[in-house]
Amino acid sequence: MCGIIGYVGPGKASQILTDGLKMLEYRGYDSVGIAVLNHGKLEVRKDKGMVEAVSSALAFTTMDGNVGIGHTRWATHGVVCRENSHPHSDCTKNIVLAHNGVIENFSKLKAELSTSHKFASDTDSEVIAHLVEEYSKTQPLQKAFMRAIGRLEGSYAIALMSAADSEERLFLARRNSPLVIGVGKGEMLCASDIPAMLRYTKTFVTLEEGDMAVLSKHGYKVYSADGSEVARKQITVDWGLEMAQKGGYPHFMLKEINDQKHFINESLASDVTEARKLIDRYDRIDIIAAGTSYHAGLLLAYLLQGMGKGAQAFVASDYPFIAKPDGKTLIIGISQSGETADVLQAFRYAQKSKKIAIVNTLSSSITRLSDCVVSLNAGPEVGVAATKTFTSTLVIIFKIIYGKEKLEGLSHLVETMLGQENEIKRLAQVLAPKENAFFLGRGKNFPIALEASHKFKEITYIHSEAYPGGELKHGALSLVCDGFPVIVLAPKDEASQKLFGNIKEVKARGGVIFSVTDDPEVKRESAFHIDIPEGTDPALYPLALIIPLHLLAYHVSVLRGINPDRPRNLAKTVTVE
Ligand code: AGP
Repeated sequence: MCGIIGYVGPGKASQILTDGLKMLEYRGYDSVGIAVLNHGKLEVRKDKGMVEAVSSALAFTTMDGNVGIGHTRWATHGVVCRENSHPHSDCTKNIVLAHNGVIENFSKLKAELSTSHKFASDTDSEVIAHLVEEYSKTQPLQKAFMRAIGRLEGSYAIALMSAADSEERLFLARRNSPLVIGVGKGEMLCASDIPAMLRYTKTFVTLEEGDMAVLSKHGYKVYSADGSEVARKQITVDWGLEMAQKGGYPHFMLKEINDQKHFINESLASDVTEARKLIDRYDRIDIIAAGTSYHAGLLLAYLLQGMGKGAQAFVASDYPFIAKPDGKTLIIGISQSGETADVLQAFRYAQKSKKIAIVNTLSSSITRLSDCVVSLNAGPEVGVAATKTFTSTLVIIFKIIYGKEKLEGLSHLVETMLGQENEIKRLAQVLAPKENAFFLGRGKNFPIALEASHKFKEITYIHSEAYPGGELKHGALSLVCDGFPVIVLAPKDEASQKLFGNIKEVKARGGVIFSVTDDPEVKRESAFHIDIPEGTDPALYPLALIIPLHLLAYHVSVLRGINPDRPRNLAKTVTVE
């Protein structure tokens, strides 16, 4: 859940690393640091805080040198402080490394080394630098690195370099954490994610599980876990740099919500034929996902159940404790990043089953564990809060279930919902001072209520809960009192009459109704409403509902002085279990 970047070439490393870290900050943002090698002299600058603040306070870009590594942290082991920030060094201060992941056997390794090594941090990562130091006493650096990697248990993406290395190389390794090599002209990069390198190259090599690699300004070599050199495929992406930048919007989240007008058609073009064929062959389907993707998974399960399938959505982290998938179970994993550790773990657990991955990042780990990959085609999503990738997932789900024809009016619907931003902003003004809120939805709209509430919590820090309308009276209604905000997802469908009853129950206790609806009766009962256009195909209601609710969460977040792109304690790609 941290971001790593590395550079070797003729350019000014400190500038390239600092620019890259700004683009990787979505992965973690409690501390930041870089190390630069300049003719055998190594300098490290690091501290807690966000990239912009720390890099200017410590004048990162004044550091000279053409080789370096950088890291932005999401703390797992050790509090947020300068000492625990990366890069970490060995005792001699010659070796430095940046690490993303969790070294599960670090206590054992640390105990083994601590008689002869002095540790400066509480992190699990630092142990790797000391291991390499230990082995390089008797072996060349590359061998020492590989031997040290062989001792690690857990997950890691690592970039390491040494002041004692006259060849000025970067040593990389990955297992269960992402790391991509960027192949430039006369320069090489590595990073946790492609967008951080787009300024320099469009050609990339994705390392496979257990791979190690060595980068120099002359090129790269990849080695498998047993140390033998291997060839890995190069990929070329057609993403423009602007896709990974804010493009004039104040936040990535707002840009990405607006991007939907465009990407909805890209997602519609994605090929789902193989996925649909597989689904048709199975009666039992387990859907595995986390967070926002899980909400899309719940909707998919409802729709598959409607087709007579035995379908169930599982929270990925619980899947191994609940399910017993066999060869008769089809697994569908949903993950925008394709790197969520909980999902990958659940995929590995379901060894005997065929698997479909619905994913945005095609170079990600989940694609290598799957028999069939469906691309969201949503372009890079940088904001921590998933927005366009959620709607793209809905588009893919609709295409799998209903076919393309039914989805023709989709981009018009997206534009109409986004066109109500002024009303959404007024609603945001009313909600911003509140400390609690409920989201109600019934049937197929309940997963969307869950998603709206999830986003609200995530970026506004307002406590919110989502309930199926009928559940309110079984407990949570006791919290509804004068002025309590209840946001109702109330399209005119088979559940609307019952939901209308729930609206009345809320109002009778002084609750205030905010709705997204095409139902004139619901509008009359609402203090504020957002319109679903008349004549909207009921199959598309989930999509019509979530677009304004994502936008609402965004505006409430901004009104509360929060940066919606960087909510506290969270990271975009959750690579720890
Ligand atoms: C969404 O806003 C969150 N940041 C989070 O819940 C996210 O959806 C979850 O971590 C799963 O991510 P994935 O789709 O990349 O697997």
